[in-house]
Amino acid sequence: MEEKNKRMILVFFLLISATFQVCFSAASQSQPPPKTRSTPSTAANRFGSSAVFRVTGNVYPLGYYSVSLEIGNPPKIYDLDIDTGSDLTWVQCDAPCKGCTKPRDALYNPRGNLLPCKHPLCSNIHLPANLHCETSDDQCDYEVEYADHGSSLGVLVSDHIPLRLTNGSIFGPRLAFGCGYDQRYPSSNLLPPTVGVLGLGNGKGGIISQLHGLGVIRNVLGHCLSGRGGGFLFLGEDLVPSSGISWAPMSRTRLEKHYSAGPAELLFGRKPTGIKGLQVVFDSGSSYTYFSSEAYKTTLDLVTRGLDGKPLKGTTEDGALPICWKGTKPFKAVRDVKDYFEPLLLSFMKNVQLHLPPENYLIATKHGNVCLGILNGSEVGLENFNIIGDISLQDKMVIFDNEKRQIGWVSADCDRLPKS
Ligand SMILES: *[C@@H]1O[C@H](CO)[C@@H](O)[C@H](O)[C@H]1NC(C)=O
Ligand SMILES: *[C@@H]1O[C@H](CO)[C@@H](O)[C@H](O)[C@H]1NC(C)=O
Repeated sequence: MEEKNKRMILVFFLLISATFQVCFSAASQSQPPPKTRSTPSTAANRFGSSAVFRVTGNVYPLGYYSVSLEIGNPPKIYDLDIDTGSDLTWVQCDAPCKGCTKPRDALYNPRGNLLPCKHPLCSNIHLPANLHCETSDDQCDYEVEYADHGSSLGVLVSDHIPLRLTNGSIFGPRLAFGCGYDQRYPSSNLLPPTVGVLGLGNGKGGIISQLHGLGVIRNVLGHCLSGRGGGFLFLGEDLVPSSGISWAPMSRTRLEKHYSAGPAELLFGRKPTGIKGLQVVFDSGSSYTYFSSEAYKTTLDLVTRGLDGKPLKGTTEDGALPICWKGTKPFKAVRDVKDYFEPLLLSFMKNVQLHLPPENYLIATKHGNVCLGILNGSEVGLENFNIIGDISLQDKMVIFDNEKRQIGWVSADCDRLPKS
């Protein structure tokens, strides 16, 4: 089906990291760094602030949420996919570039700001040994591969990233990120409209731990993705409500590098499903939710059985997602079918619950059908863990507190940027 080839489901979720090499001319590295209006942080103001970004995008039809980040001096704008599933931030690089989408302003042009292998962040960003680091002055290359088999390959640079803080100051610290010159996307005939990834994971190479290391913000971040599209993202803790949040401890497992929680039990229509011990990763870089094979099969069976005698019929003609239903007349929104579907619920220890009403696991497509936004993780090679993607994170403020090592959520109106 033609439609099917065109669907784009992004799963920005880091799988591996390795090295590769394209050399930038050494001559370009001797230029002075750009001037900046950065304000040095003072001890008195330590952690006094947060940075808030307006988010654009939606789960369907776009398949991503993004923010506009200013980089450099004078700053240029880059629209980046927000990804809590990986650490490294990267933008499209002005180098002989494969699979590059041109940013609004210009491709990122590294000028004298490549990070050398001896820079501490170089070893933090690389998992395997720095294969191409023959001398400590060599450029530091990176490669990231995502769960959907997309990847980015490039070189690490550092540059000023002006951030508007909630206390009114503009802070322009030098942060390390990737200049990506070779990108692969899961769907080769469709380039994504974003020009890179804002890696929000807690790894040492990530933006959040770099900012925390500079003493600018607390090591806390969160997002609020609206079901109507848009929302906001914050780095720092100023916008975290003082009460009403359900907190689950971050797991200390091999998934530690990701924002994961568990074990959780799956309930459907408030009844146990028999599925327990789920580890779930909160990944804003994934448009949809992925369940491991058993949880997926159970969910699909229960949802299907729940439609017995209801005026909905399975259809394979939609193409937006693998499992869809049509009604007697086209649906405009998930709201129209809400009563035919039971809520899902993930129950963590100590009675901490993540409610997933039908809006958090269904989409209404442009053909007027509804489709299941929970996908089969086994099909994309995810085993033994589950990804909670954008669809299930909508209309909640979701908070990642790396200091107290906990993940929190609370229902919220994400259309309104809170005043702080
Ligand atoms: C705002 O916070 C930043 C970082 O904590 C600090 O450097 C700056 O001086 C603060 N600005 C004001 C106006 O307090
Ligand atoms: C999920 O995907 C795996 C691997 O492709 C497949 O074997 C399994 O049957 C799928 N599960 C369902 C319920 O479709």
